[in-house]
Amino acid sequence: MSKVVLVTGASSGIGAATARHLAAAGHRVVAGARRAERLAELAEPFIDVHPLDVTSLDSVRAFVDAAVGRHGRVDVLVNNAGVMPLSPLADLRVDEWNQMIDVNLRGVLHGIAAVLPLMRAQGGGHIVNVSSVSGHRVDPTAAVYSATKFAVRAVSEGLRQENTDIRVTVVSPGFTESELSDRGGAAAAQAAARAAAEQLAIPASAIAEAIGFAVDQPSNVDVNELVVRPTAQT
Ligand SMILES: NC(=O)c1ccc[n+]([C@@H]2O[C@H](COP(=O)([O-])OP(=O)(O)OC[C@H]3O[C@@H](n4cnc5c(N)ncnc54)[C@H](OP(=O)(O)O)[C@@H]3O)[C@@H](O)[C@H]2O)c1
Repeated sequence: MSKVVLVTGASSGIGAATARHLAAAGHRVVAGARRAERLAELAEPFIDVHPLDVTSLDSVRAFVDAAVGRHGRVDVLVNNAGVMPLSPLADLRVDEWNQMIDVNLRGVLHGIAAVLPLMRAQGGGHIVNVSSVSGHRVDPTAAVYSATKFAVRAVSEGLRQENTDIRVTVVSPGFTESELSDRGGAAAAQAAARAAAEQLAIPASAIAEAIGFAVDQPSNVDVNELVVRPTAQT
């Protein structure tokens, strides 16, 4: 069945791969992010693109309103937008801590706030939140990133318990090819993350396929947790 699927952070990496994968599977995708020129590369018959900054509730609401205006409903929201400027806590990169909280946690909450009333009124829907292996374990330089990803799992579990007609899925990728380590953070920490990714990373399409698996289950089957990592990742 063709669904209306919204994907945040769709201008690169996992979000772009997910938008393409779901559109190829016949779903109607609305893809959002801040970089308009990168989003434009995604535009094809089954994918509409819309500017989006998940740190702004107004922007997320406008994104959802645009999808409803075009398709009349929202069946699935994939809260994928995220940032990972790694650094040791002692560096006190407080602006980057706040940015991770704003995008990775507040952005997910904004997504939930924008679609939950609609999905409850529809009598159904599906929210897919992208956490991380770092939402299951903590490593040096990733304390705040991990905190946001642990929090995404906590919010997802609460959302699931409170809504018996809305499916909630957490997808936790391991090292995956993307642009995640290209921005911000302490140079040594980001270089270490890039080196590990170059050794190990699986393609973004692997995560897109996991999301597609959860989306395509029947409405009474809720896939709650998927951890998808490279076989060689310890
Ligand atoms: N790659 C990995 O190894 C890995 C592992 C575990 C979890 N993850 C998670 O996977 C998700 C996707 O990341 P990725 O690996 O695909 O990295 P990526 O290529 O850097 O993609 C991140 C996406 O988030 C968007 N974004 C950032 N800030 C935003 C904002 N304020 N509003 C809207 N969109 C925003 C970016 O678009 P704009 O900059 O154009 O807005 C981009 O499209 C993230 O939640 C990340 O934490 C990735």
